[in-house]
Amino acid sequence: MKRKRFFTLFLLAALCLSSCSAAEPLSAETFTPETAMERNVSFADVPGGAWYAGAVNWCVEKGLMQGVSPERFDPEGTLTRAMMAAVLYRAQGEPDVSGTSSFTDVPPGQWYTDAVVWASGQGIVQGYGNGLFGTRDTVTKEQMEVMLSRYMGKSTDWTGDPALTAPATRGETAAALYRELKGPEESASGETSRILVVYFSCTNNTKKIAEHIKAALGEEADLYEILPEEPYTSDDLNYNSDCRANREQEDPTARPAIQGTVEDLEQYDVVFLGYPIWWGRPPRIVYTFLESLDWTGKTIVPFCTSGGSGYSDDGIRDLTGGDTTWLTGRRFSGGADRSAVAEWVESLELPQPEKGEESVFYITVNGQTLTADFADNSSAGGVS
Ligand SMILES: Cc1cc2nc3c(=O)[nH]c(=O)nc-3n(C[C@H](O)[C@H](O)[C@H](O)COP(=O)(O)O)c2cc1C
Repeated sequence: MKRKRFFTLFLLAALCLSSCSAAEPLSAETFTPETAMERNVSFADVPGGAWYAGAVNWCVEKGLMQGVSPERFDPEGTLTRAMMAAVLYRAQGEPDVSGTSSFTDVPPGQWYTDAVVWASGQGIVQGYGNGLFGTRDTVTKEQMEVMLSRYMGKSTDWTGDPALTAPATRGETAAALYRELKGPEESASGETSRILVVYFSCTNNTKKIAEHIKAALGEEADLYEILPEEPYTSDDLNYNSDCRANREQEDPTARPAIQGTVEDLEQYDVVFLGYPIWWGRPPRIVYTFLESLDWTGKTIVPFCTSGGSGYSDDGIRDLTGGDTTWLTGRRFSGGADRSAVAEWVESLELPQPEKGEESVFYITVNGQTLTADFADNSSAGGVS
């Protein structure tokens, strides 16, 4: 009943908006993830045996794609380039964006504006080179794959294959998203992630890097933000004064209180730990965080951002006890792009899931069952 009322309201809103605006029509892709979760994922035009059926259900459950109506997914239909940007923006959790687009066909205030501004800032979309993004153009198979690869931080080459200039269907797009974004742990048996990306960030530089790491790892990883009980104001961070941050850094015993904790650290084997450099070392709140949990058996991968200083994990390695493995850390500039981060993640020798936890991922494509064993990192993310 509630659902029916929602869709009636949605249709009225869509009609109203499309008649008020001559720009991009409101699309089914503008449903929110919340409404996706509300609806029962089963479409009359997606037979259970269709090769893309599992992928469609997964994408709708995750709020990445929506049906064109409550009953139909339209798997043979197509998406515009704006819709494809919006799908990836959703996959990223719709981060805040500022500014407007330099593309002349991406005006401010449209449903896709933030998505395109974000995607072009990340190098995921580049437009046609003549100031146009191609907002309403149908996304081709190759454009869809290239955008998705860039989102994953992989390097891509245009193939020039004429077959790939055909439009990507919605079914194919769902399958590609599923292939790239669904991580091995969840694929195995709906189980939980084994990697946690933890970060502390006051001005979002470290947060962006953490998000790139999460994007490179897909569903295999969860994100967690260390939040101070008392948030840092800009005065607290004004390092040219006797500010709170400076006072904490000067005091080796300072342990600023944190809000909450990681409730389920046991489930994670690997923890990425990110922070800004404050006066040449991690902020004292990182010390608080490490001292508050049991790190036995974990592998920690530190990373940091700074205005120019080099990497430092000064004092924090000693806080976790002897039975913790620390990998070599890495410093990034706040503006490091997604592919540099993904390349670093790819280069790491992370411990593999223990025996018995191997994750074999099955997907049926055109009637053929393909498998990828994610316990072997060399095939992670691909299907062989
Ligand atoms: C109190 C304080 C001290 C800092 N000390 C350094 C430093 O020693 N070297 C450096 O390169 N940057 C320093 N910075 C700059 C930050 O490391 C840099 O802006 C970082 O990317 C901020 O990350 P965030 O946006 O995730 O908070 C300092 C910033 C603050 C607020």
